This record gives sequence, C-alpha cells and structure tokens, in this order.
Amino acid sequence: MSTDMRTPILPGTAASDYERYLRTDELLALQKATEQLSHPDEMTFQVVHQASELLLKGVAFDLERAHVMIGDTEDDRAVRLMSRANAMLDHPIQLLRILEKITPYEYHIIRAGLGHGSGLDSPGFLALLHIGPRLGEVFFDRVSAAKISVEELYRRHQEFFRLHEVAEQLLDFDEHVQLFRFLHLKLAQRIIGGGVTGTMGTPVEILRQRQEHIFFKALWDVRNEITAKVDAERNKEVTGHGESESDRKYVNSRSLDEAPAELSEELHHLTDFIAKRGPRNVSAIRLATGQRFCEFQRLLGSGLAGHWRRERIDHSFDQHRSFSLQSFVEQVAGAFWIADGVSGSPAGASKCGKVDGI
Ligand code: HEM
Repeated sequence: MSTDMRTPILPGTAASDYERYLRTDELLALQKATEQLSHPDEMTFQVVHQASELLLKGVAFDLERAHVMIGDTEDDRAVRLMSRANAMLDHPIQLLRILEKITPYEYHIIRAGLGHGSGLDSPGFLALLHIGPRLGEVFFDRVSAAKISVEELYRRHQEFFRLHEVAEQLLDFDEHVQLFRFLHLKLAQRIIGGGVTGTMGTPVEILRQRQEHIFFKALWDVRNEITAKVDAERNKEVTGHGESESDRKYVNSRSLDEAPAELSEELHHLTDFIAKRGPRNVSAIRLATGQRFCEFQRLLGSGLAGHWRRERIDHSFDQHRSFSLQSFVEQVAGAFWIADGVSGSPAGASKCGKVDGI
C-alpha cells in the first residue's frame, strides 16, 4: 500500500479515514469512562442501549422510505427495504438477551443513576410507533384502490403478488415489534419484577398490556376469516356427498330396511345431522343434536330391539369420533342402554320430556 493510500483524505482530525467516516472518536466517547461507572456491568447496559437506539434508527429510516414507495406503487423496492428493516430489527430484540445476564442486585446499582430515564422516551422505539400506523394507512389505501378486500388479497395472492408481499412484510414488522415488547417485558420481569413500577413511575404491568398491541389488525384477522372459509368448505366436502354415500350403504343394509319406517327415518336424520355439522360448531349443535337423539331414544324405546341399532350408532360415532365429539358422546351415552333393550326408562323419558318440534 502506498503512503498516499494511508493518508486520510476525509475531513476531520482522526488518524484514519475509517475513524473519520464513522466518527469513532465521538461514538466511543459516548459511554461513561471506566472510573465513572456505577458498576462494571454498566458498560454493557449502556452499550446495549446505545446500539439498540442506532439500530432502531436504521429500521425507522428504511421504513419511512418504504412508506413513500408503497404510496408510489413501487412495491418491489418497498418489500426489499422492509425485509431489510425487519432483519435489522432482529438485533435490538437479541440484544435484550444480553441484559438478562445482569443480576437484579447489580442492576439496582446501575438503576440508581438513571434518574427518570425510561425506554418510554426511546427515540428509536417512538419512531417505530410513529411509522407503524402510517404504513397501515398507505397499505390499506392501496388495497381499497385495487377494489379488493384483504381476504381477496390473500385468496388471489398470485394475481396481487407484490401487494401481498407488502402485506407479509407488514405482518413481519408487527410480529417483530411484538417480539421486542415480549422479550423486553420478560427482561423487566426478570430484573426488577413484574409487580413494581419503572423509573418513570409506569407499572411493569403496563408493558404486558402494551405487548398485546398490534398495528395491522386486519392482517391478523384475515387469517381467522380464511380458516373459517376453508373449514366451511372442507366440512361440506367431508360430510357432504362422499360420506353420506358410504353412510347410505350402511343405512341401506338389510337389517335397517327391516326397521319400522318412522325409526329408520329418524335414524337417518340423526346421523346426517351429526355428519353435516362436521368437526366444528360442536357446542352450537350439541343441544339440537341432543334433542334429536332424545327423539331417537323415544322411538327406540318404543319396544324395538336388535343388534342393527347398536351397529348403526357405533358406525356413526366411529366416523365422527375424530371430530372431538367426546362430550357429545358422553351426553347421549344414555341411548346405548336403551339400544341394549332397556326401553321405556323413566329417567330417559324425563330427560326427553321437554323435547318438542323435532
Ligand atoms: C435492564 C434492562 C431494562 C429494564 C429493567 C427495563 C425496564 C423498563 C420499564 C420498567 C419500562 C416501563 C417504563 C418505565 O420505565 O417506567 C420500560 C419501558 C421501555 N423500555 Fe426498557 N428496560 C430495560 C432495557 C431496555 C432496552 C435495552 C431497551 C432498548 C431500547 C428498552 C426499551 C424500552 C422501551 C421502548 C420502553 C417502552 C415500552 C413500550 O412502549 O412498550 N428497555 N423499560
């Protein structure tokens, strides 16, 4: 390397361009001198906080740029910046782990010198709280402009690929902020306890409440909507034609054909009723199903006996046991002893006494 290349050319007084560019003299003078530290662990405490502030500044800066890009429909560029910002946000989250290694008594020595200093005034974190809602506004404006709902954005994600990617980056950001708050809450609980107040008089409990805050509720809620839709579709498929056909084969067995028409019909109703409801809505159908079962019980108790009934019931429950109908099965277990031929029980009758209109 020539002497020329070693000579700093950037403005400043530091010995090298590296130090001049990064202003390491100033940066490294921002921590207390060793003799000023209240406790040797204070160096870690300060370095972690300062590093976190720098990183949060970087995150907020890129998110501000992404905000403009989303408004300008430059989604690819926005996604790139947002994914970088989210990657940067990983680090302040991880840095919290380092402070977990300070013991409570030692922290209290450091804490005594913090005055009313509190993370509530963290410029970096406040910048995130400022950009979050604005990112939401510009994004949901774009969804409206595309004349689609959030659910459609997810259903037609290939068609709206770029906007969908923006949505996923927003979700990542929301998750990161929640992770930060969660780990920070745990840090506070570990070091000063969950039932005390902080240096600004804020109960640590408030941190727990804040940890539940999210920026983009609609992006989380749409997952519920999608699952509900898929479940509804699946229930139609699973408990619709396919299954009732196999059911029907069973129901149409010779022995069932021998049953009195009224009972046979009721049995069909009962099994179809359970089958069509599928794995969901168990509590919602329990009462109605129970009533129908009572009606079945009544008919069954009118003197019919024979192995085909138990077989039919067992078959039905074998088919649907996986649907978590355990409690339902327990509720109607009384039907089985009637199926065994113990009919006309006063207990069974009184349980079914109030059933009407089925
Ligand atoms: C020993 C470590 C720490 C403890 C015991 C602690 C404790 C607390 C407490 C008790 C609060 C509630 C407000 C108050 O002070 O009255 C708070 C808020 C906060 N602290 Fe810390 N903190 C620690 C480290 C950090 C670090 C490294 C950061 C990084 C920037 C940070 C950022 C924040 C933020 C952003 C808030 C506001 C939280 C919110 O809006 O949900 N804290 N902290």
